[in-house]
Amino acid sequence: MEKHQDLVPLGKTDIMITTVGVGAWAWGDRMVWGYGGSSYSDADIREAFDVSLANGTNWFDTAEIYGMGRSERFLGEFLPTTTKEVLVATKFFPFPWWVRKEALLRRLKKSLARLQLNQVDLYQIHMPFVQWSKPAYVSVLADAVHTGLARAVGVSNFNTEKTKLANQTLQAAGVPLASNQVEYSLFDRRIEKNGLLDYCLKNDITVIAYSPLAKGMVTGKYGPDNPPPGPRKRMYPPEKLSSAQPLLTLLKEIGTTHEKTPAQVALNWTICKGTVPIPGAKNARQAADNLGAMGWRLTPEEVTALDEASKVLA
Ligand SMILES: NC(=O)c1ccc[n+]([C@@H]2O[C@H](COP(=O)([O-])OP(=O)(O)OC[C@H]3O[C@@H](n4cnc5c(N)ncnc54)[C@H](OP(=O)(O)O)[C@@H]3O)[C@@H](O)[C@H]2O)c1
Repeated sequence: MEKHQDLVPLGKTDIMITTVGVGAWAWGDRMVWGYGGSSYSDADIREAFDVSLANGTNWFDTAEIYGMGRSERFLGEFLPTTTKEVLVATKFFPFPWWVRKEALLRRLKKSLARLQLNQVDLYQIHMPFVQWSKPAYVSVLADAVHTGLARAVGVSNFNTEKTKLANQTLQAAGVPLASNQVEYSLFDRRIEKNGLLDYCLKNDITVIAYSPLAKGMVTGKYGPDNPPPGPRKRMYPPEKLSSAQPLLTLLKEIGTTHEKTPAQVALNWTICKGTVPIPGAKNARQAADNLGAMGWRLTPEEVTALDEASKVLA
């Protein structure tokens, strides 16, 4: 049986997205996620896609730089094989050599070719590097909508000030700023403290929470004596993983009362805060687990308890 879909609007657009999307960074990335090694195969990625759809999500987040185009190509290969309506979000990466704003539409067309699509549902500026948060550059996102190459547009890693400017710029061009994709998890709650979450919620800008599992740390499978592989070891040193132990215990306890896993509880917490998480999944098991975060909610008391337990980290 298909799982119940938990739908919310994407910003002020008429696009309805499920409260959990799927992040596709690992689908082809060698450096951080070890694609090409022994931990997951192309067949695992394919299964992660199928199982994600079977478990109720309706969208995937990718980017032109993920696996140097490989992630978009995987999606381009998979999308024609399903009869479901699947929404795709991708991103423009502002390399320093893209000094002219015309680069954005050129790059979007390249992404569309890899995705085998005529239109993407959400196109985002990946980082506000140098000129790419300035009105003249952000306004090209409106051209992406006006030319029909994107249904909606958003930004990523923009702070509150840059988000406000982008919102005003796009409003003036008659296109809503649909979203801002930023890091948010029980390990990283900066957006609650710096005003970005409040600003976005008040202005109907969807906050897409990236790395919502703290790159796997909230699942409890890594710890001070069992560090994560690759560059994640530096991002989450043993001291940090030690201080996370009370939080990880609480995630397990709360999960037991709801018959949910720690990952599902941690993702549900980001949903309860009004954001839309995009957990990465390398295989079918992870995809099914993560999408079990939809269709139910933590109690306000549980959210508060998790807030308290994560204070030491975030
Ligand atoms: N805009 C940006 O700048 C930006 C930056 C980062 C990410 N993102 C987006 O956000 C998405 C998600 O973020 P992320 O991939 O950094 O981190 P994440 O979603 O917090 O963690 C994903 C990793 O956790 C592990 N995992 C996932 N589900 C699991 C489960 N149920 N049980 C146990 N382990 C599980 C897997 O790695 P292992 O199996 O190897 O542990 C997986 O690759 C990305 O795919 C990308 O679309 C955007």
